[in-house]
Amino acid sequence: MKQDMWSLFESNPINICVTGGAGFIGSHMVRRLYEAKKCGAPLGHIVVYDKLTYAADLNRLKEVDYHLVKGDILDEVLLQSTFEEFNISHIVHFAAESHVDRSLLDPTTFLTTNVLGTAKLLEASTQFWNHPNSKVENPLFIHISTDEVYGYTLKPAHEESKLNPGNPYAASKAAADQLVIAQINAHRFPAIILRSSNNYGSNQNPEKFIPKMMEQVIRGEPLTVYGKGEQKRCWLHVQDYVEVIWQLILNPKKGQVFNITGTEVYSNLALAQMIKTIFADIHGISIHNTSEIAFVEDRKAHDFYYNVSDEKIRTLFPINKHTGTLADFIKSSFEENNDKCFF
Ligand SMILES: NC(=O)c1ccc[n+]([C@@H]2O[C@H](COP(=O)([O-])OP(=O)(O)OC[C@H]3O[C@@H](n4cnc5c(N)ncnc54)[C@H](O)[C@@H]3O)[C@@H](O)[C@H]2O)c1
Repeated sequence: MKQDMWSLFESNPINICVTGGAGFIGSHMVRRLYEAKKCGAPLGHIVVYDKLTYAADLNRLKEVDYHLVKGDILDEVLLQSTFEEFNISHIVHFAAESHVDRSLLDPTTFLTTNVLGTAKLLEASTQFWNHPNSKVENPLFIHISTDEVYGYTLKPAHEESKLNPGNPYAASKAAADQLVIAQINAHRFPAIILRSSNNYGSNQNPEKFIPKMMEQVIRGEPLTVYGKGEQKRCWLHVQDYVEVIWQLILNPKKGQVFNITGTEVYSNLALAQMIKTIFADIHGISIHNTSEIAFVEDRKAHDFYYNVSDEKIRTLFPINKHTGTLADFIKSSFEENNDKCFF
């Protein structure tokens, strides 16, 4: 079965460009691609196109065979020459400014990278794939968006639901989505848009909720939770996510938007408490002897919950959860890293 699918690509191996491939999710994608290539999948070049901002870390890609292009997605000339040099047939576009708190302080940077950067990437790839001399036969552009574009909704948001972003990060991602949709409509551009819930997994930047709480409990510092910690998030293991992306590369549904959520929903307070409990269990101490929870001023316009349905993708793909639970991940991360700050 696998071989049949792969034979579709025999004459045209996939040369893939992963923008933001040195970031958290992008690096897991690159690792998944590299594993697939080692198992004989029809992958040619794996190119990481990354500006290497504060959020990047090439250590995430240790022992992986890939080409690095250090560059900005705003640099159309470098994008074109990269596409030409590696005859890029597939793009998975993760590159973005991704931290909501930073977007509240500096929205312009988010608009520049996430909106203008996506526009440049769309323009450069359209030009490259539509060029009369192009040898690429089945191009694919996977645009990595977020469930945050829907804002907080009482009823579950479906792919056609209104976009109602609640912060500059989400607004910039919603604008980028609209650009991709316009490109699909105007040029039959071969794109898929994926809107996922919060990801967790190894090597996440410590500014994000789970690694931040884990580091604080290791250091014996208060766990800083916004407001009353009532906001809820749905958590998806990053390896389950990149597996879905890989399945979509093999079986592309061009022109479509898909939501992808995890299965575990926790309030921020419940998650902070879970982290304390697991830490206490591992050390055989009482939870009362772990760091306290410190409620700090709430984030402005802190969306309560992204209530999203991913029924559409689940009817197309059997999304198997290959990883354990969020609690399993937290426990094994504490144990494997021996209480060092590890993210
Ligand atoms: N992390 C999550 O839980 C989550 C959830 C839903 C959607 N997303 C989306 O997934 C994508 C990846 O998220 P992440 O958490 O891995 O982000 P990240 O912040 O860890 O990584 C972003 C990467 O993009 C690179 N980058 C930033 N600006 C660039 C530019 N102008 N040109 C080239 N590269 C640039 C950075 O150097 C970094 O390597 C983002 O588009 C984000 O919106 C993330």
